[in-house]
Amino acid sequence: MTTPLALPGLAGKVVVVTGAARGQGLAEALVLLASGATVIATDIAPDAPADLASSADLPGLAHYRQLDVTDEAGWTELASWLGSEFGRVDGLVNNAGIPFRGRIGEIARDDWDRVFAINVTGAMLGIQALSPLMNAGASIVNIGSSAALNAHHTVAYTSSKWALRGLTHVTATEFGARGIRTNIVHPGYIETEMMAAAPAIMTDAQLALTPLERTGQPEEVAAVVAFLLSDASAYVNGAEIPVDGGFTSSAGVKYMSDIIKNSQKTT
Ligand SMILES: NC(=O)c1ccc[n+]([C@@H]2O[C@H](COP(=O)([O-])OP(=O)(O)OC[C@H]3O[C@@H](n4cnc5c(N)ncnc54)[C@H](O)[C@@H]3O)[C@@H](O)[C@H]2O)c1
Repeated sequence: MTTPLALPGLAGKVVVVTGAARGQGLAEALVLLASGATVIATDIAPDAPADLASSADLPGLAHYRQLDVTDEAGWTELASWLGSEFGRVDGLVNNAGIPFRGRIGEIARDDWDRVFAINVTGAMLGIQALSPLMNAGASIVNIGSSAALNAHHTVAYTSSKWALRGLTHVTATEFGARGIRTNIVHPGYIETEMMAAAPAIMTDAQLALTPLERTGQPEEVAAVVAFLLSDASAYVNGAEIPVDGGFTSSAGVKYMSDIIKNSQKTT
């Protein structure tokens, strides 16, 4: 494990991260631990990942709890444990999510429901269960996707992430008066197990459309999530932050620009 980045404004905060057994969730847990936070890493996986278990030398305190984000009773149990253990929650990262590459015209109802249950309902259940333990200064970060900003063909995944934007803006509005902030981060193509299953041709197409001309790393998303959890972002509420190398900003125009540039080189 390389030493994770440490950010200011997080020491002593009690933060819950879902889907933290690997990928971006694990990277988020490690940055928070390096920054001195108490992290409750949760995942549907029964056991804590090795990197979390070996994080004892980091300044923060790590806990691991099994949690399926679709399990309402599981959230209630977690809230009750957090209440008795810490008396409060300062941060929640709704990171757990699953992809599904079915297209409109062929998506099965069960697949649609499963994607929505994890990617949207799971976040809503988490917010409802943990927000009673939040005080002014607390921060909720939802993990969206660049697919939430465009028309990616994965219809259930894309629609679920657009719905998560709605949940983010409602929560930011409703909880603002309590001093609780809610924001959403939209990762682009990030190198995790989720993307390991993506067809190679998709990677090539993504790179052709991404101004930075490379994929992203989980730590690059984690740093932005940590900033949104920290006091350094105290006036950021209801924001949507792409972490995608400029992919959604360019909106395909890089492809057109490169074609024009290349044609001018040859004429
Ligand atoms: N990797 C990317 O390129 C990318 C791009 C855009 C958005 N995202 C989003 O980022 C988030 C993290 O993705 P990742 O790339 O780290 O994925 P990943 O597949 O590597 O990790 C996801 C984690 O979520 C857990 N999980 C799955 N279902 C769960 C459930 N019901 N309850 C609790 N945990 C569950 C898995 O066990 C796993 O540990 C997801 O919300 C994903 O949609 C990823």
